[in-house]
Amino acid sequence: MNRALAVVLLAIAITSISSFAQPPTTAPVDFASQIKPILSAQCINCHHSQALFGNLNLENRRRAFARRPQGPAIVPGEPDKSPLYVVLTLPPRQTPKAMPPTGHRIPKEQVELIRQWIKEGAKWPNGQAGVIRPLVTQKPPGS
Ligand code: HEC
Repeated sequence: MNRALAVVLLAIAITSISSFAQPPTTAPVDFASQIKPILSAQCINCHHSQALFGNLNLENRRRAFARRPQGPAIVPGEPDKSPLYVVLTLPPRQTPKAMPPTGHRIPKEQVELIRQWIKEGAKWPNGQAGVIRPLVTQKPPGS
């Protein structure tokens, strides 16, 4: 085998080994478009300043990561140590901690998204993108 061919073959071997070692490239979970809608639809109404169940406030980043007597709700990188994820995996109604407590389970894909988001570091933006508002019943103007 001539030297040039050997070098080419070696280069191919190295590239294929390194591409083999790469994890599959999937886009990281995006808080604003993927996590916020879940928390907003399923969780915020019982977890905000006026309804602070479990001492958990999901209105914004600072509050969601605030110190709680029970310990942190979200441990970036460690979904299995994060109550925010763990409560979604508990059998409904067998413990008061199974969320949502109303008895229904949120879809598996959403639970998986939350797991993946925490695993990737639980990036929760500051500012508007990271603000979740509870549903409030607005009085019609002038009433
Ligand atoms: C109907 C009201 C209600 C809804 C909706 C709700 N929760 Fe809760 N949540 C509670 C109550 C009540 C507790 C306190 C339970 C306890 O510790 O006994 C709680 C506690 C928690 C805790 C703290 C558990 C701990 O170990 O400290 C987490 C985390 C949590 N909820 C996450 C969620 C998530 C995520 C959602 C949305 C999928 C959600 N909750 C939806 C009422 C609610």
